[in-house]
Amino acid sequence: DVRPLVAGNWKMNGTRDALGEIKAMAEGVVGPLADRVDALICPPVTLLYVATALCTDSPLMIGAQDCHQKVSGAHTGDISAEMIADCFGTHVILGHSERRTDHAETDHLVRDKAVAAYQADLTAIICIGETAGERDSYQTLDVLKRQLDGSIPDGATAENTVIAYEPVWAIGSGLTPTNEDIAVAHAFMRSELTKRFGEEGKKMRILYGGSVKPGNAEVLMGIANVDGALIGGASLKAADFLAIYSVY
Ligand code: 13P
Repeated sequence: DVRPLVAGNWKMNGTRDALGEIKAMAEGVVGPLADRVDALICPPVTLLYVATALCTDSPLMIGAQDCHQKVSGAHTGDISAEMIADCFGTHVILGHSERRTDHAETDHLVRDKAVAAYQADLTAIICIGETAGERDSYQTLDVLKRQLDGSIPDGATAENTVIAYEPVWAIGSGLTPTNEDIAVAHAFMRSELTKRFGEEGKKMRILYGGSVKPGNAEVLMGIANVDGALIGGASLKAADFLAIYSVY
């Protein structure tokens, strides 16, 4: 059985006064649930080091939202995977659609970043998903295949890689695909991952992301091959995040 992961992506939200939410989440991720389900919050890197310090006694894990593809060097403004690990971060989100759009990130760049993450012993959360236009022209599975093939390095394992399926049009919109469409997309990704990675592909976690809220999480997390969630807006408040976590 695949161990679920409930992950929060704070995006460009959160100053020091939001650390109380992280503290409340750290205190809320406890007991028998934490033995079965992983929990992760990815705040802005400015809060990374303090956030991990708040979680030393909690199973709540802390990650980052991007890293550079190079180990170090002349890359002003960028953050390396090693710097994230040095702050006790365990995960890094890569290739989020907002980075693909804002920073023109390509599948191959995302793949190189994942390799950098592996070298620093971070787990890469590789994001993929179709746009509204691609969905309307029935290209969803083609897009997912292209992004899986191009964004995931050959060295991916169930340990070092998590896939996050986030339809671009479902992000921040309050819209989600039908349960049937999510089931079809996740089954397709599972079969692609298994074809390429064998047993590791069977165990690799595939998260759903896009307008996951306390009110719809139980149904969404119950769909076959949905191994957890990547949550944006509803991960900013401990009460919402813990409510979603608790559907497991
Ligand atoms: P929302 O949950 O706000 O729709 O964001 C999803 C997302 O992009 C998480 O990475």
